[in-house]
Amino acid sequence: MHSIKINGGNTLSGTISIGGAKNSIVALIPGAILTDEEVIISNVPDISDVKALENILKYLNVDYSKKNDIIKIKSKDMVNKEITKNMSSKLRASYYFMGSMLSRYKHVEISMPGGCTIGNRPIDLHLKGFKALGATITETENKVIIDAEELKGNKIYLDFASVGATINIMYAAVMAKGKTIIENAAKEPEIVNVATFLNNMGARIKGAGTETIKIVGVEKLHSCFTEVIPDRIEAGTYIIMGAALGDKLKIENIIPQHISTVLEKLDEMGAEIEVNDDYVIISKVNKLKATSIKTLVYPGFPTDLQQVFASLMCIAKGQSTIKENIYENRFNNLFELIKMGANIEVNGNKAIIKGPNNLSGCEVNATDLRAGAGLVVAALIASGETTINNADYILRGYEHIVKKISSIGGEISLL
Ligand code: EPZ
Repeated sequence: MHSIKINGGNTLSGTISIGGAKNSIVALIPGAILTDEEVIISNVPDISDVKALENILKYLNVDYSKKNDIIKIKSKDMVNKEITKNMSSKLRASYYFMGSMLSRYKHVEISMPGGCTIGNRPIDLHLKGFKALGATITETENKVIIDAEELKGNKIYLDFASVGATINIMYAAVMAKGKTIIENAAKEPEIVNVATFLNNMGARIKGAGTETIKIVGVEKLHSCFTEVIPDRIEAGTYIIMGAALGDKLKIENIIPQHISTVLEKLDEMGAEIEVNDDYVIISKVNKLKATSIKTLVYPGFPTDLQQVFASLMCIAKGQSTIKENIYENRFNNLFELIKMGANIEVNGNKAIIKGPNNLSGCEVNATDLRAGAGLVVAALIASGETTINNADYILRGYEHIVKKISSIGGEISLL
């Protein structure tokens, strides 16, 4: 496992270019096997989760090539084999092979997915959707076997607007017989990215981005080209970094509307931010004001940015509060911030941060991807040197993070 070493306190200025969205590409790659023709995807981020999915495709004898940010996938000679634990446990998104391989083969054997330890993260809604389409599920202690004579469209209500379940059910329904309606569907931008990709392949999907998605099954899907949308969470991470340490820091290749709630919160805190069509420019201000956030499904405040936002709240004046409504266990980073000198009280899914705090560098541990990103921001703010252990978590979702932060004046190295 790598560590990241940071000497904090530097002002950050220059330009950060945002890459393709992790939470899109980790769905698009498993979805590419819905056709045996060539699929081309551009703006692919250089992150380890993509590598983990490449390994699964190659294990299934799928032709995969990557040149710069473009990948080509051709699954004409694909073999339907069990996806074992050592591969599926690398990331949560391995579960998208359930929907795509069920669609293609009507039989899937796969071990349970991995993913950040931020809650118990069940997949009951995914399995509910597959069953509604006619599949039978056999679950052993760590494996799922899914079979279907035939897949038939149905109406499926999601008890929670789950991103993963919405996408997985789309994959299982695109070639099912008849019409499928997903109610209380997730509305995240990544859902729209995936639906556009499927429609480019010849699917008939309407309503992506709203709470009701309608899918009319088609016989076959064909080759297509699609582009990954900018990563709104990577963008938000660097914008929050800029609110703490920026001097006209430019964050470009973004879709500001995708993080409008984060921008509104930064405005409430008094951040100096200029929002343009596809970039923002942000500078630190002396006294940021405390604020409160409650994480919600899109377009509410994104749970994936609450841990990063907590680091900024440490230097805001007054009492800030966080209410985490999506996951049961997404506060581990706060205990690391307390080690750095932050005044934080944690009580269940609520946290109170009293600021401003003078953060001091020390040795901390990344417990998950976004906790790690939050610690990077805290270490850049802190005086002195910080070592962040278990930094591989961070490399799962932030392409070239050391290079990008070094390029804007941060003193950071990967060990
Ligand atoms: C996706 O996870 C993202 N991951 C997460 O980002 C993100 O936090 C989450 O959506 C919410 O936006 C990927 O896209 C790979 P969910 P996913 O299904 O699909 C409950 C990151 O840091 N639930 O919307 O797993 C679940 O327990 C990661 O990039 C069920 O109860 O999220 C959780 O409380 C972290 N049953 C809530 O829904 C199910 O079958 C959100 O889960 C599925 C989910």
